[in-house]
Order: sequence, then C-alpha cells, then structure tokens
Amino acid sequence: MIKVYRGELLHFLADPEKVGIEQSYEYFKDGLLIIKDGLVERMGDAEDLMPSLATDTKITHYKDGLIMPGFIDTHVHYPQTEMIASYGEQLLEWLENYTFPAERCFSDLSHGENVAEFFLTQLLEAGTTTALVFGTVHKQSVEAFFNIAQQKNLRMICGKVLMDQNCPDYLSDTAQTGYDDSKALIEKWHNTDRLQYAITPRFAPTSSKAQLDKAGELLAEYPDVYMQTHLSENLKEIEWVQELFPTSKHYLDVYDQSKLLSRRSIFAHGVHLKDEECARLGEMHSAIAFCPSSNLFLGSGLFNLVQAQKYNVNIGFGSDIGAGTTFSMLSTINEGYKTQQLRGDKLSPYQSFYLATLGGAVALDLEGTIGNFMPGTEADFILLDYHATPLMDRRIKHCSNLTEKLFILSMLGDERHVKATHILGEKI
Ligand code: GUN
Ligand code: ZN
Repeated sequence: MIKVYRGELLHFLADPEKVGIEQSYEYFKDGLLIIKDGLVERMGDAEDLMPSLATDTKITHYKDGLIMPGFIDTHVHYPQTEMIASYGEQLLEWLENYTFPAERCFSDLSHGENVAEFFLTQLLEAGTTTALVFGTVHKQSVEAFFNIAQQKNLRMICGKVLMDQNCPDYLSDTAQTGYDDSKALIEKWHNTDRLQYAITPRFAPTSSKAQLDKAGELLAEYPDVYMQTHLSENLKEIEWVQELFPTSKHYLDVYDQSKLLSRRSIFAHGVHLKDEECARLGEMHSAIAFCPSSNLFLGSGLFNLVQAQKYNVNIGFGSDIGAGTTFSMLSTINEGYKTQQLRGDKLSPYQSFYLATLGGAVALDLEGTIGNFMPGTEADFILLDYHATPLMDRRIKHCSNLTEKLFILSMLGDERHVKATHILGEKI
C-alpha cells in the first residue's frame, strides 16, 4: 500500500556538531514523502518525484506546516505521570516523598494499563513516537505498558525496575527475583512487534552489588537488549554512591564494574560527570539522556553538552516525566537551550532538532529504523503547525529562513503545535 504526503519536509542525515550544519540535514520547501507498507520508500523534491507516481495516486497535501520524523524521548517514567509537578524537593527527598508512593500502585495490572493508555496518548499528541521508558519494580507494570503499546503498534522500549536496597519494602525485589522477572519479560516481549526490552536498575544507591552483577550477567546473555539507569544527577546522590561503593573510581565505574556499559546502554542525566567518565561512555558507545526540564525542576544542575560532545558520547533528549514537567520535546528543547545559555554555550536549533530525532535514534542504536526519512525507515512522523497559537502565528510572519523557523518552533512551541502524528504512515 502506497501513501504519499506533500509539504515542507525536514530530516537529519548526521550530527551537525560532527559534519557541520549544512551537511547535517535535508530540507524541501515543497517535498514529497512516499511510503510503502509503513516504510519510507523515497522522499525528496515534489516536482522531481511527482512524475514517478502513478497518475491516480492520492496525495495528502499538508500546507503551511513542517513534516519531520517523530520525536524520540530517550528517558521517561510512565508510572510517574500522575505525580508530575510535585512541590519543593530535590532528587532524594522527591523520590522518598512522592515517587515511591506513586509507584506502589503499579502492582495492579489494570492501574498500569490505565496510566499507560493516558501516557501514550499524551506522548503521541506531543509528537513523540518512540520512547525508552521506566516501569516500576512490578513485572505487571511492564506487561501493562507493552500491552497498550502493542495495541497502538508503537516502537517502544521498556523495562522493570531493579531495586533491592534503600527503598521501601513494598517496592523491593531481590537480586534473584529481579533477574528472573526481567528474563521472563525479555523472553516474552523483546523484539515482539515493535517492542524491545531494557534491563533497568533504578540507580546505584537502590541496587546491591549482587543485583548489579546479576543485571550485567543478564545483559551478557541478551546482548541486543537495552540497559537504562540514572547517573550523576544530583550532588548528594553522587556523595552517597561514593559512600555505598567505596572501591569505585567514580559513579560510572559502579556500573562499569558490573559490566553494564554497552552500545545499548542509556544513562539519564550525567549532569556532574568527570572527563574520565565521559571518555569511558564515548569509548563504550553508550549514551546520555539529556533531561533539561527535569534537571531544572529538581535543581540538579546544568548538563555540560559541550563536554559530552567532546568525548563523542551519544546524546538524546529525555522528558524524564515526572521529574520533567512536560511531555513535549519542543518544550524540552526550549529548556535545553536555556540550560546551555546559563553555561555560556549556544544550542543551535539544528543541533536540538537533530537530538530530538536522529540523535535519539543513534543513542538508542536505532539509526536506519527510525529518526529520519532514509529509504526503509519506519514512517513515524509528525506535522508541526506554525499557526496553532496566535503568538507563533504573529512571530513566524517576521521570519525569513529555516533557522529562525526552527528556533521559534522550539521556543514558542509545545503539544498544541503538533497538528498530526503518523505511525507507520497512518495518521492516528
Ligand atoms: N534517580 C533514581 N530514580 C529516579 C527517578 O525516578 N527520577 C529521577 N529524575 N532520578 C532518579
Ligand atoms: Zn528518570
């Protein structure tokens, strides 16, 4: 089945930081996106491609909007949807007071399905079509999430939290049960339809060395499974990790010693990393999820994007709901820009739209599958509307080039500006 969309088209081919802005993207003022059986067949200039279509081909023409690949959220907690915007604390107290009690309810499969349905609807409305997602310690939380994501035919990655110390009893597993439950979930769900599994130790303080080692064993058994965790988010957290793991060289080394660094390992935050840690992440081709909305909300700090880029670390954006305060990648880019301003660094709109699309795909080792419109990629894409709000409508009239348009979209945009989301070519 062929589907054809016409309109202003943008996608990235490479990291602007590495190849220069001009080489990093393709843009067609009047473009055509040709999709066959849910995959991109070709894209390019409408005038050039029109003659190749059968004369009776139906074309959906999106006028005055921007078609681009769906956003990729490389770090988010679906069970924290209902405790977003919890007041007054930084990381460790925020976890104790708000997060753990909210996660308790996910022992119930139907509660998980209810929240997953709402969460995925919010993500899609914000234009995010793929995410790397935390469940809770309960196996059912991941069953619930995958059930709903499967019904919607989404490309999603999720994992059961591993947590066997420094947490409430009601949220605790053991090294063995965590391993067994994760393994059962991998066997059932990993590479089922568009779903993939991530081994998910919450963070070093809540896992014993035995549990982290077991997680590393599991990763060695299933090398194409993901690993997700948190790293170096908050200064008190980092001190605590040093106390709990006195023989580790630094925070990352705790995970490294348990063999948790791979091409498919994604570490959330990394706000306070040493050069040595960045170098090791780069060497292992692991990724950092840059979560500016969360880092500002919890007062964690300002991510050093320049440092991570210097060491060739793969980077994607993360909303980190419920420490982050928005599902929207446009708003996340907005907050990211401001964190870099506070550091005295400039985040160009090309760099941020790259990170929100192809950069996220590279971070998740899914380049060639999602993230741009190269032939054969899955046709998950969105239509951004320059006129969805009166303010953007007014501002956009004063703008003369793509750079300005992208910057305005990211500074003034949010879910209201996502006019349509398509999954495998189908508008949903
Ligand atoms: N560190 C450990 N758990 C969490 C969590 O749920 N959210 C954030 N932001 N950081 C964490
Ligand atoms: Zn998180």
